[in-house]
Amino acid sequence: MEKIHIDWQAKYELGVEDIDFQHHFFLNLINRLAVELNQSNDKQYSGSLIAELNAYARFHFISEENMMYAAQYPALAEHKQHHRNLIDQLSSKGNRILMDSSETNINEILNFLIHWFIHHTTTEDKLFAQFLERQNDL
Ligand SMILES: [Fe+2]
Ligand SMILES: [Fe+2]
Repeated sequence: MEKIHIDWQAKYELGVEDIDFQHHFFLNLINRLAVELNQSNDKQYSGSLIAELNAYARFHFISEENMMYAAQYPALAEHKQHHRNLIDQLSSKGNRILMDSSETNINEILNFLIHWFIHHTTTEDKLFAQFLERQNDL
């Protein structure tokens, strides 16, 4: 079985302490869920793991959006839309796992999440970190 795991890399570090802390947590969560989901034959438990992931993603997004609001970040609306898209996709993929928790579906959701995390963190989140840095230089 393909082992899904993502290691922290220096390029994920944005230099914003609260966000970096949450991103670390998010990666650890993905890794733990990857192990648990692949071992579980219990649909209810799998559903709870997906719910845990969803809850953390929502928490992290609200937290980032609040930081953006407080900093008067001009691209907040656009960033919110990226977050909303992920939540929508996670919900539909999560529902699919409730119907069919095959290894293929589990790996698909985990690979999708990992891809999304890397892309979003190193592009959209990074833009916000750069905005904060410019503000601090003023
Ligand atoms: Fe983020
Ligand atoms: Fe974000």
